[in-house]
Amino acid sequence: MSELKPAEIVEELDKYIIGQHNAKRSVAIALRNRWRRRQVDPELRDEIAPKNIILIGPTGVGKTEIARRLARLTDSPFYKVEASKFTEVGYVGRDVESMVRDLLELTINMLKVREQEAVQGKAREMAEERVLDLLLPESGTRHPPGSDLQAQEQDLNTPEIYESEKPAVSSETREKLRRMLRDGKLDHRQVEIDVQDKSSPMVEVFSNTGMEEMGINFKDMLGSLMPRGSSRRRRVTVAEAMEILTQEEAQGLVDMDKVVQDAIEKVEQSGIIFLDELDKITGKEGGQGPDVSREGVQRDMLPIVEGSTVTTKHGPVNTDHILFIASGAFHTSKPSDLIPELQGRFPIRVELDSLGKQDFVRILTEPKNALLLQYIALLRTEGLDVSFADEAIEEISRFAETVNNQTENIGARRLHTLLEHLLEDILFDAPDMDEKKIVIDQDFVDEKLRDVKEDEDLSRYIL
Ligand SMILES: Nc1ncnc2c1ncn2[C@@H]1O[C@H](COP(=O)(O)OP(=O)(O)OP(=O)(O)O)[C@@H](O)[C@H]1O
Ligand SMILES: [Mg+2]
Repeated sequence: MSELKPAEIVEELDKYIIGQHNAKRSVAIALRNRWRRRQVDPELRDEIAPKNIILIGPTGVGKTEIARRLARLTDSPFYKVEASKFTEVGYVGRDVESMVRDLLELTINMLKVREQEAVQGKAREMAEERVLDLLLPESGTRHPPGSDLQAQEQDLNTPEIYESEKPAVSSETREKLRRMLRDGKLDHRQVEIDVQDKSSPMVEVFSNTGMEEMGINFKDMLGSLMPRGSSRRRRVTVAEAMEILTQEEAQGLVDMDKVVQDAIEKVEQSGIIFLDELDKITGKEGGQGPDVSREGVQRDMLPIVEGSTVTTKHGPVNTDHILFIASGAFHTSKPSDLIPELQGRFPIRVELDSLGKQDFVRILTEPKNALLLQYIALLRTEGLDVSFADEAIEEISRFAETVNNQTENIGARRLHTLLEHLLEDILFDAPDMDEKKIVIDQDFVDEKLRDVKEDEDLSRYIL
């Protein structure tokens, strides 16, 4: 999955997003360029700056959806954030640099998980030894009668374990026990292990906001003030113990310094930040309220998009080569309302098409996660077998287009409101319905939508 060709990226996106071919093409090229750049000689590589993109299009036509799907297609660190989340440093809200920190955190986690998976085999071996130690304490140490271990030995009913007390046979016993453990025969036995309390719930109350720019993690700081290693003894089954101890060993085996170094490198060389809702931070100068800070946010953004060094608690991260893909509806504002410096840093503009009836028909039926499939699956849990006739789908789509034209054009989101209205009674009555097979045909659609169809004002409220 790591390095798809542009055509393959578009093909993947096609499974979820209808149309919008130009937008798919340009993000696919941008993604592939990340990979290409990494193959270039180091000298030239540093000279190749990413070409940032703005996706422009009316609301509800798939901008955010493209970003979400893209994130799963790439091996590059990918972080999506709403521009409206930021305010100028000093105001309430998150500072703009936090997007780079978040991208790094995300990448560290991703690499950590990957490393842990890589050492899983070794960790499992180590966990196995520890579980065997628990089941078979060091030879020679006797346990007081009635202790847990004795009770366990009895219910297992295997004389070998008693022999563990005699050093001579202990290794043989251990091997026998190991085989039983591997065969899952001990899975339901109980053992006591020490588990680390991950974080004390009290600390969670504090948020990191405001402390970030100093590169301080409040939680870590407090955590280290608190008594460390507050571990608890817990009784768990052998199967659970294997899981817990494997995780613990895996964590111990991963070299976190290296993971962090790799993550910084990866972020700097191939990171992608998707800036959604960029139009929300355009605003005319001299406005009141939130407008005042919007331009400030854009200014704060400049150095990051341009390339600068952001301090994080893991070390400095250079943003020269991070790719930015922005998106926005820009219906009340235009990209030219952005401050000129920022406009210049997004050289590629792609417009998304607004959607019409034929698109809606396809959106309802074709994507892997198509809306109709979702409703069918939901209602199947109640034992209902719902299907949609072709004419019904046509009718829904035609109506969606009409309502979009007559009232507000909210793109494919209209289908969501329409279908909710259409299926409301079935969704409500489903558990008690006698008729288990339901065909949504044109009559059904006409009937349900008649009231909103006849009254344009009503449709404004309901749909
Ligand atoms: N071209 C499309 N193909 C399939 N589904 C789509 C398409 N466009 C929109 N949708 C669906 O419509 C919903 C809204 O789309 P999305 O979130 O991408 O809108 P958007 O373009 O980001 O709008 P906004 O500017 O309001 O953020 C999603 O559930 C998405 O699945
Ligand atoms: Mg969106």
